[in-house]
Formats: sequence, structure tokens, C-alpha cells
Amino acid sequence: MAKRPHIPKLPKGFIWGASTAAAQIEGAAAEDGRGPSIWDAFAATPGRIKDGSTGAVACDHYHRYKEDVALMKRLGLDAYRFSVSWSRVLPDGTGAANEKGLGFYDRLIDELLGKKIEPWLCLYHWDLPLALDRRGGWPNRDCAAWFADYAALMVRRFGDRVARWVTFNEPGVFTIAGYASGLHAPGVSDFSAMIAAQHTVNLAHGAAVEAIRAGAPKAVVGVVCNQQPARPQTASEEDKAAAGLFDLIWNRTFADPMILGDYPDGLKPFFAALLRDGDLEHINRPLDFLGLNHYSPTYIKHDPAAPGGIGLGKPPEGAPVTMMGWEIAPKAFAQTLIQEHARYKLPIVVTENGMADRAEVGPDGTVADDDRIDYLAKYIGAVASAVESGARIDGYFVWSLIDNFEWAEGFEPRFGLVHVDYATQKRTPKDSYYWLGDEIARLRK
Ligand code: FCB
Repeated sequence: MAKRPHIPKLPKGFIWGASTAAAQIEGAAAEDGRGPSIWDAFAATPGRIKDGSTGAVACDHYHRYKEDVALMKRLGLDAYRFSVSWSRVLPDGTGAANEKGLGFYDRLIDELLGKKIEPWLCLYHWDLPLALDRRGGWPNRDCAAWFADYAALMVRRFGDRVARWVTFNEPGVFTIAGYASGLHAPGVSDFSAMIAAQHTVNLAHGAAVEAIRAGAPKAVVGVVCNQQPARPQTASEEDKAAAGLFDLIWNRTFADPMILGDYPDGLKPFFAALLRDGDLEHINRPLDFLGLNHYSPTYIKHDPAAPGGIGLGKPPEGAPVTMMGWEIAPKAFAQTLIQEHARYKLPIVVTENGMADRAEVGPDGTVADDDRIDYLAKYIGAVASAVESGARIDGYFVWSLIDNFEWAEGFEPRFGLVHVDYATQKRTPKDSYYWLGDEIARLRK
């Protein structure tokens, strides 16, 4: 076996976690009164998901959550970030709550607490109730109030046991891919719908923070943004301008108004017509931490046919990439952490990082995923170097605990520390799982 890398020392009390999302693991899509979400409808539309799969069964976590929590425990995790399926607890998005759906999260939270793993509850990881999409979805400003009511319900129910709250996961990704490129649910390609959705999401965030604080005054509240540098594909002025605009849309549309209180100058013209008196104050509620997801730099080229003239490029020839085509560039991660900490002055928690491969269970029953070990060692090393440079980083959550439904990419990319055989639902911890567990235990000593 190759010599395994070691993770450098991290601050005392550093939080080790893993993240998942309801739509990617739960399955049980039509069980116990759950209503459909936009991802159920999107995945059922031919051509939308690469391998034609859906999340209807996924990892069957709804029934196997105990086994999955036991896997977290054996790994030595302190914390687990999961998301609630809004349409499981409120089948129509608003109105009557679904007691059976709430009961699932009661059981999950209690199981975690019983194993001394802290639940981090994310209210929204991309699965809008379909009923709300039919009422206009995120581009409809009313969606902010629907979200605030949902947040209030969650806090009433779980606020006694859940201390850590996240309003949104990667608002940039789901609004850009959902409303501009159309590659994610609900599959809309309309730049102005994206802008409207983004402003509603910002308002919804502010309103949810208020609701959480009102219901659980001691709650620790944050938002999770995907912060990744946007690099121009070439040195041409056009590519640079497209990358500059994309950087603002991707990295600043949410964190800036939520944390600094305003849209950056370069985005103001887009949002001006939507802004009403008091909006910015509502959006800018004090937060306790910034959850930061990061995978790789993004390459952008000018494309007159694409929304906003922004075309997706690719990493330079010869750059190391994962099976997703994402560049492996841990230095860019360290720089991002330092830069985002300096800009927003909040403690950062890395709430997602990891890589996909196709590693399967070998004849000896193990899953050899050396590339993941290498990636994680480098990226966690980047966290340590950012800490060394003075950035406050309180924790690191791997994406992901188990292989799962990777949105429009279906089941081919495997991001888990634990392999899932989707035919049998058998879980097999990969080499990276055992490696990370050993490292966590060693660093705790
Ligand atoms: C992030 C998502 C997460 C997963 C990873 C690979 O953008 O938040 O659900 O798909 O990418």
C-alpha cells in the first residue's frame, strides 16, 4: 500500500463533519405523505438527467438513517449537516404540516444526538416543493414569506435539539443552474428570472434568520455559499469581462448583501428595479458563521449566445482534474479561504469539499480510492495553511458521507467516503473513510 499522507495540525476544537442533502440521499419520494419537489419533476423529464435516473430511491437513507449515523460515528465525526426536504414536512410548501415527515427528522436528530454527533440543519438544498414552483417559485417575491413560514415551523419543532442552522445551501448554484443555464431544476433559461429568484432568495434568507432567532435565541446561524475563483479562459478582454461578471454573480450576489448589506456596484443595475425600501436591511441580518463550499476554480469565456454573455470554459490543457472535469487546485482553495475571511470577517466553516471518482468495490471487498485520499489531504492541508495565515476556520465537512444522486449527473459520479451499491443498498466504507478516520483520531490526541 502506498504511504498515506498526513493532515497537518488544526486548531483545538476544530469540527470534523460530513454533509449530505435530502434530495440526494433520502429516497422515499412518495412515502408517508411527502409532496413532490421540483427535482422529482425535473428528473422525471426525459433528457434532463444524464443516466436517466431519479432520486426516488437514491440511498434509501429515509429507512437506513441509523446505519448511516453509525457510519458517521465510526468515522469519528463531530457534526453532520443534512437538509430537510421542504415538501416532506409541508407537502404543498405552505399550509398543513405533514406529521409523518416531521417524525423522520425527529428520529434522525435524536439518533445523531444519541451518538453525540451535532446536527447542522440546512433548510434548503435545492428541492423547492413543486406546488410552490407552480405558484411562481423563487422568481416570485412571495416565496420569501413562504420560506420564512417554513423556517418558523422547523424552529418550533427542532429548535430545542438543533443548535446549528443553515438557511440556504449554495444559492448561487441553484439560481444560476435552475434559472439561467437551465441545467438544474426547474430548468428555466431566462437571465431576468434568475435575477428575480436571487433577490427573493436573499429576502427569504433574511426573513428565515429572523424566524430562527425568534424561535431559538441561542441558535448559531449561517448561510452556505459556494465560493470559487472565476478565471478567464484566455487573456482576451472579452473573456476577462465575462469572468469578472461571473465572479460577481457567483461569489457576491448573496454573501455581499447578506453579510455586508448591499449588492456590489457591478450588480446594482440588475437588481435596481426589484429593490424596495427596507429590502437591504431585511437581507442583512447578523450571522454567526459563513459556510463555505469549494471544489475548484471555474473557467469562463465570453459567449454571446449564453445568458449574460457568460460561457463555461474548461481548465487549461494538462491541468489535473477529477472525473467531473474539475481542476484540482488546492492553492486556489487556500487563497479563497483567506480572501473570503478578510472580506466578510466571519468565522468560516468549510461545509463542503471533496471529489468524485468511479471507484467500485474490488474483489477483496475494499474500495481503493487513493485519488480521494490525495485530494482530501491536499485540500485539508490548504485549510491548515489558510489558518496559518490568520483566517479563522472552525471546521471541515466532507462532501459527502455516502455516494449519492449527483443532480443532473445522476449516479455515475461517486463523491462518498462510503460506497453505495444502488441495487442492494449495501454500504462499503472506502479506503479514504478509514484513512480520514485515522487522521481525525490522530489529530484529536
Ligand atoms: C455542490 C452541492 C452538492 C453536491 C456537490 C458535488 O455544489 O451543494 O449537493 O452536488 O456540489
